[in-house]
Amino acid sequence: LTARMTLDPAFRVAPVNRRTFGTFVEHLGRCVYTGIYEPDHPSADDDGFRADVLELTKELGVSTVRYPGGNFVSGYRWEDGIGPVESRPARLDLAWHSLEPNHVGIDEFVRWARKADVEPMMAVNLGTRGLQEALDLLEYCNIPSGTRLSDLRIANGAKDPYGITMWCLGNEMDGPWQIGHKTAREYGRLAAEVARAMRMVDRNLELVACGSSSSSMPTFGAWEATVLEEAYEHVDYISCHAYYEERDGDLGSFLASATDMDHFIASVVATADHVGARLRSRKKINISFDEWNIWYMSRHVAYGGPSDWSVAPQLLEDRYHLADAVALGGLLISLLRHSDRVTAACLAQLVNVIAPIVTEPGGRAWRQTTFHPFAQASRYAAGEVLRVEPVCPVYETAAYGEVPVLDAVATRDEETGETTIFMINRSVDQSLTVDVDVRALGAVKPGGRSGSVGRGGAVEATVLADSDPYARNTADDPLRVVPRANPEVRVEGGTVTVVLPPVSWNVIRLH
Ligand code: AHR
Repeated sequence: LTARMTLDPAFRVAPVNRRTFGTFVEHLGRCVYTGIYEPDHPSADDDGFRADVLELTKELGVSTVRYPGGNFVSGYRWEDGIGPVESRPARLDLAWHSLEPNHVGIDEFVRWARKADVEPMMAVNLGTRGLQEALDLLEYCNIPSGTRLSDLRIANGAKDPYGITMWCLGNEMDGPWQIGHKTAREYGRLAAEVARAMRMVDRNLELVACGSSSSSMPTFGAWEATVLEEAYEHVDYISCHAYYEERDGDLGSFLASATDMDHFIASVVATADHVGARLRSRKKINISFDEWNIWYMSRHVAYGGPSDWSVAPQLLEDRYHLADAVALGGLLISLLRHSDRVTAACLAQLVNVIAPIVTEPGGRAWRQTTFHPFAQASRYAAGEVLRVEPVCPVYETAAYGEVPVLDAVATRDEETGETTIFMINRSVDQSLTVDVDVRALGAVKPGGRSGSVGRGGAVEATVLADSDPYARNTADDPLRVVPRANPEVRVEGGTVTVVLPPVSWNVIRLH
């Protein structure tokens, strides 16, 4: 198979938003306990945080971390998680049918976030709670001192305010599974009132209203329109959540999951802009895609027996293979390509729970296949996102009809002169030779594999591929699926030619 595309610095979409590379830490399964926090672990620091997980979080290149849920937040009392640990109550977590010991709360999380060098993004409970509790949490976190709750934070050991900017107004309130689930009108009113009052405390907050839990929700589209009719002038973002999985052995459809994400984003942008037009507003609402990932939900064993009330049970611990990483790479390409309107995103989640990082309690921590596309995109996407408009063969899928075999996006950093192309080959059995016209980048010298395009004249190609699309990494074999140098890249005239193996994620750097 062959394909071609053109790189031109004039084809700008928007700047790369660092917040595209957010993730998510929920009190769910082993994400917090034995994930980021395990005081008895050999690598634990003075605060009980696993140093190995902190290191991997940095390597992953995470910008923002959403906390503390997810479904969990809709039953959460944040006050349970502050003060001396030995006095904190254990509570039933109805969302995940677990026991929450509250050993980690907002103070520990912010301490962890500082160590991991990530921006905390907080969610407030709009399920069992409402406006007053949201204001209390905001006061506790962001007011420097001199009020009951800010002084309580200081008494609990945090002299400086947390300065948390991004706040989610509840979680998935469209979902019947959500504790305190609401109609769009009920939720829209509540979100508007909570947002209005939170802005009275700090008008520079960035507030996220809940959009749909997936594009297949029966209320999709109508939910966003109604919520924004109520809350448009009070919020900055509407959220999107989407999880994908291979169903019925249909790998071709699965690798094209980004088709749904593209459609999801375009539909929510159109809906938000339509509401904005009707309100005669000049303001634009952006998208916070604050839950996205591969999740084998259909294989998920139901929980819910009375005996399930345990601390940090093994829940949602999906093990990812190469094809999952390639599908996830496609989702990253989709998010980047929509950088003009998707200005924040969170891979759900960070550790153990549908996560790129896996830990053994008391033992090793390792990288799943999906770690690699995320880490590479976070590391190398810089400057401006460029449209690339590939011309390539299509294939038929049961889920989405005809889909291009190649999906791609590029970024260009004017300051460093570096251009990076991210590509997936969705063909399950054929390699794809891609010709990239790079003449518009300037300074193209004909030459060999390394030595022609970009300021320093180097071309580097890596590929994530395997003879088995279902190959996985494990604790004992953590390097089975990792990015490797792709020798099949060359430069001739103004064209970079690269061969992408079937089912592969590829990064080409011109620098
Ligand atoms: O990320 C796992 C769960 O998926 C979250 O708790 C919820 O918001 C979503 O349904």
